[in-house]
Amino acid sequence: MAHIRILKPDVQGKIAAGEVITRPASVAKELLENALDAQAKRIEVDIADGGKQKCLVNDDGIGMTKEDALLSIERYSTSKIRSIDDIDNITTYGFRGEALASIAQVSHFELETADGTHGARIFVRAGHVERVVDSQRPRGTRVKVSNLFFNLPARLKFLRSAQWERRLIAEMVRNYAFVNPSVHMSLRETGRRVVEFMSMKSIKERLQAALSRTVIESLAEINVDVGLVKIFGYVSRPDFQEKHRLHYVYINSRPVRYPRIYRAILSAYQEPKNPPAFLFNIMVAPDRIDVNIHPTKNEVKLRDEQYIVDLLAQSIKKAAFSLATTTGYERVVSATQSVARAGSPQFVQDHLVVSEPSQTPHSVLERDTDEFWQLHDAYILAQTRSGLIIVDQHVAHERIIYESIMKGTAGSQRLLFPITLDLSPEEYRTYKKTKSLLKELGVAFKEFSQRTVVIDSLPTDVHVGREEIANLFKDLDELGSVRKEKGEVAKVIACHTAIRAGQKLSVVEMRDLIDRLFACDNPYTCPHGRPVVLKFSLEELAARFGRT
Ligand SMILES: Nc1ncnc2c1ncn2[C@@H]1O[C@H](COP(=O)(O)OP(=O)(O)O)[C@@H](O)[C@H]1O
Ligand SMILES: [Mg+2]
Repeated sequence: MAHIRILKPDVQGKIAAGEVITRPASVAKELLENALDAQAKRIEVDIADGGKQKCLVNDDGIGMTKEDALLSIERYSTSKIRSIDDIDNITTYGFRGEALASIAQVSHFELETADGTHGARIFVRAGHVERVVDSQRPRGTRVKVSNLFFNLPARLKFLRSAQWERRLIAEMVRNYAFVNPSVHMSLRETGRRVVEFMSMKSIKERLQAALSRTVIESLAEINVDVGLVKIFGYVSRPDFQEKHRLHYVYINSRPVRYPRIYRAILSAYQEPKNPPAFLFNIMVAPDRIDVNIHPTKNEVKLRDEQYIVDLLAQSIKKAAFSLATTTGYERVVSATQSVARAGSPQFVQDHLVVSEPSQTPHSVLERDTDEFWQLHDAYILAQTRSGLIIVDQHVAHERIIYESIMKGTAGSQRLLFPITLDLSPEEYRTYKKTKSLLKELGVAFKEFSQRTVVIDSLPTDVHVGREEIANLFKDLDELGSVRKEKGEVAKVIACHTAIRAGQKLSVVEMRDLIDRLFACDNPYTCPHGRPVVLKFSLEELAARFGRT
């Protein structure tokens, strides 16, 4: 790991800092996170009196030198980020550099650490370093926090019974243990074992070791990979009724509280009688989440929340309901129907990689104004040198897409969020027959089991609205034998991916569309032969108004 540094004041100001230490469980959590960040393989938590009297965490991670150890207890000292931009790329649990400083302020604090060569033992009381000595310990770190809040009696009063505080710590350890299966973790209270998790190869093995057989047998695995989002986890069958404590959501292995996700889970089960069991790890690129919204770091914001929530609900339905037996038939049917709905491409439009508007010199001939008006979100009005044109936005875009596909200038863009389609048997047959031609035209797929296909690339610059692409294969099917002709397939693609009527366009978008339309070989008719542009000359207008 990099050396520890104090964050610059401007970075300090931007992180969601604040008091994070409220009780023994928050001490234990911060220390456990640090041990995991230090790549420990074995972590021991040892408490006394529910953690109020003592909370000690010992790890075999990378440890620190004496110099780093002294820095680590300063406020805003961290080895995990340098600049505010790094916050978009957090892969560690910590990043604010506040935990050790805050804990050391409110306790008798002892840190013993070594990086394999050098080591130190530091004694701190209420934030003041009292003694520093060398240490010979093996590589790793031990932090012992005693008499928490000894200098904050008001805070002390808010703590609950030892039993209660211990339960919170045990629950916290369990939460981190499930998502870090290879790390050996134990919690002891004055020598007595409270919980222990042996090192395992997978989350599955860890759950098998920790949960009852009835719970394990009710679980279905979820393993979804749609490129930029992966979801891995387990959910219970809808008819599962046992008592359990399996309700874990992780984002990039970070335990999170995410009410919107909980609601989505419950609604996937359609108002369950008993709380479903679940454990998910949602994995996204680190820059797709904001972890800097709450000091405890257990609240994060997914930047593609709607998409991921829908994907999750859809995956749960698939996994949980496909396990249901006997009485399950109707459920399976209704689930697949709702899956199909959830899988419709309603998000695509928001998630297409935006391409640069193209520059076309021809357009200057046709228009000399930057003023455009949209009529009923369907037609574009523009002034031209000789009068006025009205353009039907949908067919105009169809023409643009059609020509660029046919000329092979469209290229293909990867979708930021691929679109899942659950095809009917007929649609699937059509898919099989047309997929290579579609690929040639810039529409690429990944195949999954049971007639599920995922569109992961489309021609550049298309605009996919809500329902359109869902019917792509139905329309291709209707083409019958001409389905083999490139031009016919290109027309269908153009029709399904062009801007619809009803879509609001900005002036920039209108200008771009008009420019590209007039760069086409035939801007005046759509691929199906409908008119794209109506022209009204000034003479014609004058005549209509009786001016001549
Ligand atoms: N158990 C540990 N093993 C190795 N290094 C540690 C450990 N705990 C803390 N550190 C170091 O001390 C720094 C400060 O820790 P902390 O105050 O928790 O802030 P943060 O985790 O946000 O960086 C960390 O960035 C890390 O470099
Ligand atoms: Mg930390």
